[in-house]
Amino acid sequence: MNHIKHVAIIMDGNGRWGIKHKNSRNLGHKEGIKTVEKIIKSTIKNKIKYLTLYAFSTENWKRPKKEINFLFNLLEIFLTSKISEFNKQKIRLKIIGKKNFSNKINNLLNKSEKKTFNNKRLQINLALNYGSKNEIINAFNLILKNNIKITEQSIKNSLFTKNIPDPDLLIRTGNTKRLSNFLLWQLAYSEIFFVKKLWPDFNEKDYNKILVKFKKTKRNFGNI
Ligand code: IPE
Ligand code: IPE
Ligand code: MG
Repeated sequence: MNHIKHVAIIMDGNGRWGIKHKNSRNLGHKEGIKTVEKIIKSTIKNKIKYLTLYAFSTENWKRPKKEINFLFNLLEIFLTSKISEFNKQKIRLKIIGKKNFSNKINNLLNKSEKKTFNNKRLQINLALNYGSKNEIINAFNLILKNNIKITEQSIKNSLFTKNIPDPDLLIRTGNTKRLSNFLLWQLAYSEIFFVKKLWPDFNEKDYNKILVKFKKTKRNFGNI
């Protein structure tokens, strides 16, 4: 049976869920938060050490300003109300992606990361303004600046995910089969699960089914 250290999730389908239910994409984003909470609980129950959640991509800036503002407002409310509870539950929060938001959001993110830094039960990597191509360019520039050799190890150590094991599995909800610029380097050998359900409809049962299936998968890593 495969052991699970790290699950990565592309939480897709909020907008369509909101349109379907109340003709409002933003309603879907709000509802999606409930799924985030359920999945965090379930991840802890399953004793998984790392959970990486794709919340906002470098390409998501193309969206209407109103939707972007709503999303960051939601993030602010979520973090402000949850960070103490995260801390109590020994959850560490780490942001992956470039923090170039408003001062208010940047400060909140830094504060949340600092407060939970020593927690060891579960590390949540929140991908915000995250793009894998941007991450790789950033890594190469760091390597150049430090005048070190390009090796698998030096690249690994220069990514936002430095010191985090690669995801064992990737889940994408929302009935779309693409990576959308998420963890292109880190997913090289991950098992990928595409789910038809929209993110707000995804639940613990769906999640556990995937985890069980993953555990039984034969992973070759090029071997036989
Ligand atoms: C994913 O849901 C959440 C974010 C990108 C912030 P979407 O907003 O992409 O939902 P759909 O894919 O349009 O339904
Ligand atoms: C990927 O979803 C990004 C997040 C879930 C945050 P998108 O909805 O942005 O992906 P595309 O544009 O359909 O590929
Ligand atoms: Mg989408």
